[in-house]
Amino acid sequence: MNKKTYSIAVIPGDGTGPEVINEGIKALNAVSERFGFSLKYQHFPYGGEHYKKTGETLPDKALEALKKFPAILLGAIGHPDVAPGILETGILLKLRFGLDQYINLRPIKLYEGVDTPLKNKGPEDIDFVVIRENTEGLYTGSGGFLKKGTPDEVAIQESINTRKGVERCIRYAFELTRKRNREKKLTLCGKTNVLTYAFDLWLRTFNEVAKDYPDVKTDYAHVDAICMWMVKNPETFDVIVTDNMFGDIITDLGAMIQGGMGIAAGGNINPEGTSMFEPIGGSAPKYAGKGVINPLAAISATSMMLDHLGESEAADVVEKAVQAIIPNLKSLSAGKMGATTQQVGDMVAEKIRSDL
Ligand code: IPM
Ligand code: MN
Repeated sequence: MNKKTYSIAVIPGDGTGPEVINEGIKALNAVSERFGFSLKYQHFPYGGEHYKKTGETLPDKALEALKKFPAILLGAIGHPDVAPGILETGILLKLRFGLDQYINLRPIKLYEGVDTPLKNKGPEDIDFVVIRENTEGLYTGSGGFLKKGTPDEVAIQESINTRKGVERCIRYAFELTRKRNREKKLTLCGKTNVLTYAFDLWLRTFNEVAKDYPDVKTDYAHVDAICMWMVKNPETFDVIVTDNMFGDIITDLGAMIQGGMGIAAGGNINPEGTSMFEPIGGSAPKYAGKGVINPLAAISATSMMLDHLGESEAADVVEKAVQAIIPNLKSLSAGKMGATTQQVGDMVAEKIRSDL
Protein backbone atom coordinates (compact mmCIF):
# COMPACT_ATOMS: atom_id res chain seq x y z
CA MET A 1 0.00 0.00 0.00
CA ASN A 2 1.25 3.46 -0.84
CA LYS A 3 2.12 5.60 2.11
CA LYS A 4 0.01 8.68 2.57
CA THR A 5 2.20 11.73 1.89
CA TYR A 6 1.63 15.30 2.96
CA SER A 7 3.43 18.22 1.32
CA ILE A 8 4.34 20.82 3.87
CA ALA A 9 5.65 24.30 3.12
CA VAL A 10 8.18 25.47 5.70
CA ILE A 11 8.99 29.11 6.37
CA PRO A 12 11.59 29.08 9.16
CA GLY A 13 11.81 32.89 9.07
CA ASP A 14 13.89 34.97 11.45
CA GLY A 15 15.75 34.84 14.74
CA THR A 16 15.08 31.64 16.63
CA GLY A 17 12.53 30.54 14.00
CA PRO A 18 14.87 28.17 12.13
CA GLU A 19 16.10 26.52 15.35
CA VAL A 20 12.67 25.73 16.69
CA ILE A 21 11.39 24.62 13.29
CA ASN A 22 14.23 22.06 13.11
CA GLU A 23 12.98 20.52 16.32
CA GLY A 24 9.40 20.60 15.07
CA ILE A 25 10.45 18.69 11.98
CA LYS A 26 12.33 16.22 14.15
CA ALA A 27 9.09 15.48 16.00
CA LEU A 28 7.15 15.24 12.75
CA ASN A 29 9.63 12.78 11.29
CA ALA A 30 9.49 10.61 14.39
CA VAL A 31 5.71 10.55 14.52
CA SER A 32 5.21 9.99 10.80
CA GLU A 33 7.53 7.00 10.96
CA ARG A 34 5.57 5.58 13.86
CA PHE A 35 2.19 6.07 12.17
CA GLY A 36 3.28 5.11 8.65
CA PHE A 37 2.64 8.30 6.72
CA SER A 38 5.22 10.56 5.20
CA LEU A 39 5.87 14.29 5.04
CA LYS A 40 7.60 16.12 2.23
CA TYR A 41 8.97 19.55 3.07
CA GLN A 42 9.59 22.49 0.81
CA HIS A 43 11.45 25.40 2.39
CA PHE A 44 10.76 29.04 1.56
CA PRO A 45 13.29 31.76 2.45
CA TYR A 46 11.00 34.66 3.39
CA GLY A 47 11.76 36.76 6.42
CA GLY A 48 13.87 39.69 7.59
CA GLU A 49 17.21 38.45 6.22
CA HIS A 50 15.71 37.76 2.81
CA TYR A 51 14.13 41.22 2.84
CA LYS A 52 17.43 42.87 3.71
CA LYS A 53 19.18 41.04 0.88
CA THR A 54 16.54 41.39 -1.83
CA GLY A 55 14.05 44.07 -0.77
CA GLU A 56 11.36 41.43 -1.20
CA THR A 57 8.84 40.58 1.55
CA LEU A 58 6.46 37.90 0.21
CA PRO A 59 6.07 38.05 -3.57
CA ASP A 60 2.71 37.22 -5.16
CA LYS A 61 4.23 34.23 -6.89
CA ALA A 62 5.16 32.76 -3.51
CA LEU A 63 1.61 33.20 -2.31
CA GLU A 64 0.40 31.35 -5.40
CA ALA A 65 2.93 28.56 -4.82
CA LEU A 66 1.87 28.26 -1.17
CA LYS A 67 -1.78 27.78 -2.14
CA LYS A 68 -0.87 24.32 -3.42
CA PHE A 69 0.10 23.10 0.06
CA PRO A 70 -2.41 21.89 2.65
CA ALA A 71 -0.27 23.39 5.42
CA ILE A 72 2.57 25.74 6.20
CA LEU A 73 4.87 25.52 9.20
CA LEU A 74 6.07 28.98 10.17
CA GLY A 75 8.95 29.76 12.54
CA ALA A 76 8.86 33.48 13.26
CA ILE A 77 8.82 36.74 11.36
CA GLY A 78 10.53 39.85 12.79
CA HIS A 79 13.98 41.42 12.50
CA PRO A 80 15.61 44.02 14.75
CA ASP A 81 17.06 45.93 11.75
CA VAL A 82 13.76 46.22 9.89
CA ALA A 83 11.28 48.96 10.81
CA PRO A 84 8.11 47.71 12.54
CA GLY A 85 5.26 46.96 10.19
CA ILE A 86 7.16 46.04 7.03
CA LEU A 87 7.62 42.34 7.66
CA GLU A 88 4.44 41.99 9.70
CA THR A 89 2.30 43.47 6.93
CA GLY A 90 4.39 42.26 4.01
CA ILE A 91 4.74 38.66 5.14
CA LEU A 92 2.68 37.53 8.12
CA LEU A 93 -0.51 39.45 7.39
CA LYS A 94 -0.12 38.93 3.65
CA LEU A 95 -0.06 35.19 4.30
CA ARG A 96 -3.08 35.30 6.61
CA PHE A 97 -5.10 37.51 4.28
CA GLY A 98 -3.83 36.15 0.97
CA LEU A 99 -4.57 32.57 1.99
CA ASP A 100 -7.84 33.65 3.63
CA GLN A 101 -6.87 32.04 6.94
CA TYR A 102 -9.88 33.46 8.66
CA ILE A 103 -9.48 31.58 11.92
CA ASN A 104 -6.68 32.09 14.38
CA LEU A 105 -6.94 29.15 16.75
CA ARG A 106 -5.11 29.52 20.04
CA PRO A 107 -5.46 26.85 22.70
CA ILE A 108 -4.70 28.01 26.24
CA LYS A 109 -3.84 24.90 28.20
CA LEU A 110 -1.73 24.62 31.31
CA TYR A 111 0.19 21.34 31.25
CA GLU A 112 0.96 19.38 34.38
CA GLY A 113 4.25 20.54 35.94
CA VAL A 114 4.22 23.95 34.26
CA ASP A 115 4.22 27.05 36.45
CA THR A 116 1.45 29.56 36.01
CA PRO A 117 1.61 33.03 37.56
CA LEU A 118 -1.97 32.52 38.75
CA LYS A 119 -2.12 31.66 42.42
CA ASN A 120 -4.07 28.53 43.32
CA LYS A 121 -4.83 27.61 39.70
CA GLY A 122 -3.78 24.35 38.09
CA PRO A 123 -4.16 22.36 34.87
CA GLU A 124 -7.81 21.59 35.70
CA ASP A 125 -8.57 25.35 35.74
CA ILE A 126 -6.73 26.52 32.64
CA ASP A 127 -7.93 24.72 29.53
CA PHE A 128 -9.77 26.75 26.94
CA VAL A 129 -9.49 27.86 23.33
CA VAL A 130 -9.58 31.31 21.80
CA ILE A 131 -10.92 31.68 18.27
CA ARG A 132 -9.68 34.96 16.90
CA GLU A 133 -11.05 36.33 13.63
CA ASN A 134 -7.92 36.60 11.48
CA THR A 135 -8.65 38.59 8.30
CA GLU A 136 -10.68 41.66 9.30
CA GLY A 137 -11.14 44.20 12.09
CA LEU A 138 -8.40 46.72 12.76
CA TYR A 139 -5.88 44.60 10.86
CA THR A 140 -7.03 45.33 7.29
CA GLY A 141 -4.97 48.51 6.98
CA SER A 142 -8.05 50.50 6.14
CA GLY A 143 -7.67 54.20 6.96
CA GLY A 144 -5.05 56.80 6.32
CA PHE A 145 -3.51 60.12 7.17
CA LEU A 146 -4.72 63.59 6.41
CA LYS A 147 -2.30 66.52 6.59
CA LYS A 148 0.41 64.17 7.85
CA GLY A 149 3.19 65.85 9.81
CA THR A 150 1.27 69.10 10.28
CA PRO A 151 -0.37 70.35 13.47
CA ASP A 152 -3.73 69.52 11.85
CA GLU A 153 -2.79 65.91 11.27
CA VAL A 154 -5.54 63.29 11.31
CA ALA A 155 -4.93 59.54 11.54
CA ILE A 156 -7.79 57.15 10.88
CA GLN A 157 -7.60 53.38 11.44
CA GLU A 158 -10.85 51.63 10.70
CA SER A 159 -12.21 48.35 11.99
CA ILE A 160 -13.75 46.41 9.12
CA ASN A 161 -16.36 43.82 10.10
CA THR A 162 -18.31 42.07 7.37
CA ARG A 163 -21.36 39.96 8.00
CA LYS A 164 -19.78 37.14 6.05
CA GLY A 165 -16.44 37.39 7.87
CA VAL A 166 -18.03 37.58 11.29
CA GLU A 167 -20.48 34.77 10.60
CA ARG A 168 -17.95 32.26 9.28
CA CYS A 169 -15.76 32.86 12.31
CA ILE A 170 -18.62 32.50 14.76
CA ARG A 171 -19.85 29.35 13.02
CA TYR A 172 -16.40 27.82 13.24
CA ALA A 173 -16.35 28.63 16.96
CA PHE A 174 -19.73 26.95 17.54
CA GLU A 175 -18.58 23.86 15.63
CA LEU A 176 -15.38 23.68 17.65
CA THR A 177 -17.23 24.12 20.95
CA ARG A 178 -19.48 21.22 20.01
CA LYS A 179 -16.53 19.09 18.92
CA ARG A 180 -14.50 19.80 22.07
CA ASN A 181 -17.50 18.50 23.96
CA ARG A 182 -16.45 19.80 27.36
CA GLU A 183 -18.59 22.41 28.99
CA LYS A 184 -20.04 23.17 25.53
CA LYS A 185 -19.95 26.86 26.30
CA LEU A 186 -19.04 29.59 23.83
CA THR A 187 -18.28 33.10 25.08
CA LEU A 188 -18.34 36.08 22.74
CA CYS A 189 -15.70 38.63 23.71
CA GLY A 190 -16.56 42.13 22.53
CA LYS A 191 -17.14 45.71 23.58
CA THR A 192 -20.80 46.35 22.82
CA ASN A 193 -20.93 49.26 25.27
CA VAL A 194 -18.52 51.39 23.22
CA LEU A 195 -17.97 49.82 19.80
CA THR A 196 -21.67 50.04 19.11
CA TYR A 197 -21.51 49.27 15.38
CA ALA A 198 -18.88 46.57 15.10
CA PHE A 199 -19.99 44.54 18.09
CA ASP A 200 -23.64 45.09 17.40
CA LEU A 201 -23.02 43.13 14.21
CA TRP A 202 -21.00 40.53 16.13
CA LEU A 203 -23.64 40.06 18.86
CA ARG A 204 -26.58 39.89 16.43
CA THR A 205 -24.73 37.35 14.30
CA PHE A 206 -23.73 35.37 17.40
CA ASN A 207 -27.31 35.17 18.62
CA GLU A 208 -28.61 34.16 15.21
CA VAL A 209 -26.02 31.45 14.65
CA ALA A 210 -26.62 30.19 18.20
CA LYS A 211 -30.09 29.04 17.11
CA ASP A 212 -28.41 26.36 14.98
CA TYR A 213 -26.54 25.06 18.03
CA PRO A 214 -29.11 24.54 20.79
CA ASP A 215 -26.71 22.17 22.57
CA VAL A 216 -24.11 24.93 23.03
CA LYS A 217 -24.45 27.37 25.94
CA THR A 218 -23.68 30.95 25.03
CA ASP A 219 -22.29 33.83 27.00
CA TYR A 220 -21.14 37.37 26.31
CA ALA A 221 -18.50 39.49 28.08
CA HIS A 222 -16.72 42.75 27.31
CA VAL A 223 -13.04 42.37 26.51
CA ASP A 224 -11.88 44.21 29.64
CA ALA A 225 -13.95 41.91 31.82
CA ILE A 226 -12.60 38.89 29.92
CA CYS A 227 -9.07 39.98 30.88
CA MET A 228 -10.16 40.12 34.47
CA TRP A 229 -11.83 36.69 34.41
CA MET A 230 -8.93 35.07 32.57
CA VAL A 231 -6.80 35.93 35.59
CA LYS A 232 -9.37 35.48 38.33
CA ASN A 233 -11.49 32.56 37.09
CA PRO A 234 -9.98 30.99 33.97
CA GLU A 235 -11.95 27.81 34.70
CA THR A 236 -15.14 29.54 33.56
CA PHE A 237 -14.02 29.46 29.90
CA ASP A 238 -14.41 26.70 27.36
CA VAL A 239 -14.22 28.50 23.99
CA ILE A 240 -13.97 32.27 23.43
CA VAL A 241 -14.65 33.88 20.06
CA THR A 242 -13.57 37.43 19.29
CA ASP A 243 -12.33 39.90 16.69
CA ASN A 244 -8.80 40.26 15.41
CA MET A 245 -7.48 42.97 17.75
CA PHE A 246 -9.04 41.73 20.96
CA GLY A 247 -7.96 38.21 20.04
CA ASP A 248 -4.39 39.39 19.61
CA ILE A 249 -4.36 40.92 23.06
CA ILE A 250 -6.17 38.28 25.08
CA THR A 251 -4.09 35.45 23.59
CA ASP A 252 -0.87 37.02 24.88
CA LEU A 253 -2.50 37.10 28.29
CA GLY A 254 -3.51 33.49 27.66
CA ALA A 255 0.04 32.51 26.73
CA MET A 256 1.27 33.90 30.05
CA ILE A 257 -1.22 31.99 32.18
CA GLN A 258 -0.40 28.73 30.36
CA GLY A 259 3.28 29.08 31.19
CA GLY A 260 4.70 31.57 28.71
CA MET A 261 5.80 31.93 25.14
CA GLY A 262 7.90 28.76 25.28
CA ILE A 263 4.78 26.68 25.10
CA ALA A 264 2.13 28.69 23.22
CA ALA A 265 1.23 27.65 19.68
CA GLY A 266 -1.40 28.75 17.23
CA GLY A 267 -3.01 27.88 13.93
CA ASN A 268 -4.03 30.25 11.14
CA ILE A 269 -6.76 28.23 9.55
CA ASN A 270 -8.57 28.28 6.26
CA PRO A 271 -10.81 25.24 6.59
CA GLU A 272 -11.15 25.09 2.80
CA GLY A 273 -7.57 26.02 1.86
CA THR A 274 -4.02 26.37 3.11
CA SER A 275 -3.54 26.66 6.85
CA MET A 276 -0.46 27.80 8.74
CA PHE A 277 0.85 26.74 12.13
CA GLU A 278 3.30 28.67 14.30
CA PRO A 279 4.76 29.07 17.75
CA ILE A 280 3.41 32.44 18.85
CA GLY A 281 6.52 33.63 20.69
CA GLY A 282 8.11 35.63 17.88
CA SER A 283 11.69 35.69 16.60
CA ALA A 284 13.41 36.44 19.97
CA PRO A 285 16.56 37.87 18.27
CA LYS A 286 18.56 38.04 21.48
CA TYR A 287 18.44 34.25 21.82
CA ALA A 288 18.97 33.44 18.13
CA GLY A 289 21.66 30.94 17.21
CA LYS A 290 22.49 30.08 20.82
CA GLY A 291 20.56 26.83 21.13
CA VAL A 292 18.77 28.08 24.24
CA ILE A 293 15.27 28.77 22.94
CA ASN A 294 12.44 26.46 23.96
CA PRO A 295 11.19 24.49 20.92
CA LEU A 296 8.08 23.09 22.64
CA ALA A 297 5.78 25.76 21.18
CA ALA A 298 6.96 24.93 17.67
CA ILE A 299 6.56 21.23 18.38
CA SER A 300 3.04 21.87 19.70
CA ALA A 301 2.35 23.79 16.48
CA THR A 302 3.23 20.63 14.53
CA SER A 303 0.75 18.73 16.66
CA MET A 304 -1.95 21.23 15.74
CA MET A 305 -0.93 20.86 12.11
CA LEU A 306 -1.24 17.07 12.23
CA ASP A 307 -4.65 17.36 13.80
CA HIS A 308 -5.70 19.72 11.02
CA LEU A 309 -4.39 17.29 8.39
CA GLY A 310 -6.59 14.57 9.88
CA GLU A 311 -3.76 12.70 11.64
CA SER A 312 -5.35 13.14 15.02
CA GLU A 313 -3.74 10.10 16.65
CA ALA A 314 -0.29 11.29 15.62
CA ALA A 315 -1.18 14.79 16.83
CA ASP A 316 -2.13 13.35 20.17
CA VAL A 317 1.13 11.46 20.54
CA VAL A 318 3.14 14.63 19.82
CA GLU A 319 1.16 16.57 22.40
CA LYS A 320 1.57 13.78 24.97
CA ALA A 321 5.31 13.62 24.26
CA VAL A 322 5.60 17.35 24.92
CA GLN A 323 3.72 16.94 28.18
CA ALA A 324 5.80 13.93 29.15
CA ILE A 325 9.18 15.64 28.86
CA ILE A 326 8.20 18.82 30.72
CA PRO A 327 9.20 17.38 34.13
CA ASN A 328 12.75 16.93 32.72
CA LEU A 329 13.14 20.67 32.20
CA LYS A 330 14.18 23.12 34.88
CA SER A 331 12.07 25.87 33.36
CA LEU A 332 10.30 26.61 30.10
CA SER A 333 12.08 29.94 29.64
CA ALA A 334 14.83 30.47 27.11
CA GLY A 335 18.27 29.84 28.60
CA LYS A 336 16.87 28.29 31.77
CA MET A 337 15.66 24.92 30.55
CA GLY A 338 18.71 23.00 31.75
CA ALA A 339 18.96 21.56 28.23
CA THR A 340 19.64 22.91 24.76
CA THR A 341 17.03 23.47 22.08
CA GLN A 342 18.27 20.36 20.28
CA GLN A 343 18.28 18.23 23.39
CA VAL A 344 14.69 19.17 24.12
CA GLY A 345 13.79 18.23 20.54
CA ASP A 346 15.63 14.91 20.96
CA MET A 347 13.76 14.16 24.19
CA VAL A 348 10.43 14.74 22.47
CA ALA A 349 11.39 12.63 19.43
CA GLU A 350 12.52 9.82 21.71
CA LYS A 351 9.23 9.92 23.63
CA ILE A 352 7.33 9.81 20.36
CA ARG A 353 9.24 6.68 19.37
CA SER A 354 8.56 5.07 22.77
CA ASP A 355 5.24 3.39 23.47
CA LEU A 356 3.55 6.49 24.87
C1 IPM B 1 0.42 37.59 16.59
C2 IPM B 1 1.40 38.72 16.40
C3 IPM B 1 1.04 39.47 15.12
C4 IPM B 1 -0.38 39.99 15.27
C5 IPM B 1 2.01 40.59 14.76
C6 IPM B 1 3.43 40.11 14.67
C7 IPM B 1 1.59 41.28 13.48
O1 IPM B 1 1.40 39.57 17.50
O2 IPM B 1 0.44 36.66 15.77
O3 IPM B 1 -0.34 37.63 17.55
O4 IPM B 1 -0.58 41.07 15.80
O5 IPM B 1 -1.29 39.28 14.83
MN1 MN C 1 0.06 38.95 19.07
